[in-house]
Amino acid sequence: MDKFNIAIDGPGAAGKSTVARIVAKLLGFVYVDTGAMYRAVTWKALQAGISPAEKQRLTEMASALRIELHPGEQAQQVLLDGEDVTDYIRSIAVTQNVSAIAAIPEIRRLLVDKQQDMARSKGVVMDGRDIGTHVLPDAELKIFMTASVRERAERRYLEMKAKHEDVTLEQVEQEIAERDRKDEQREASPLVQAPDAVLLDTSGLTVTQVAERILELAQAAA
Ligand code: C5P
Repeated sequence: MDKFNIAIDGPGAAGKSTVARIVAKLLGFVYVDTGAMYRAVTWKALQAGISPAEKQRLTEMASALRIELHPGEQAQQVLLDGEDVTDYIRSIAVTQNVSAIAAIPEIRRLLVDKQQDMARSKGVVMDGRDIGTHVLPDAELKIFMTASVRERAERRYLEMKAKHEDVTLEQVEQEIAERDRKDEQREASPLVQAPDAVLLDTSGLTVTQVAERILELAQAAA
């Protein structure tokens, strides 16, 4: 199969990352988790004590950062200036602050440039919020993956419980709904389905079923 690009967008906890990793592996493509890049910048900002309101400082900090993505065992491994931050970027503090930082146009511009570089030679499965609409508008296959807020909250809650995090299902559901609202209502590249994206509602489907559906679409797009 010739190389081409697959864009997978959708709200938080819809299962994008898990499915995108599987699809990339099966096709021999490179998986790029763009949410991990926004999370990495957010983690660094929190470490440096820079608030989302300090746009100038944030942009300077982000433009000097070296972000590397590597295929990992469970999730994509993220290195920031050589330091492995894979686990840190999933913290509750990062999750609560990432949408504010991702709404800053200068930060988006920096990260979108990097993402477009990564996809230039094709053979990439990239997941995020604006991949089909802004980052890779010419992607050969675009998927918009959703699931009900309740189902997404239940999946994320089980993941967090497995990591012994102290949260309730209601808190997770509230956090997901709030992040949806911020991602959908921001001015810069809001979360929206591209007109040419295939809508995939994963409610009630297993990861394998969703991956199989995308592989079928990939065969047709190849
Ligand atoms: O996908 P994940 O939940 O890790 O993304 C974290 C946050 O990063 C999202 O809620 C969104 O605010 C931001 N994001 C974005 N554009 C992308 C990927 C993620 O704005 N392409």
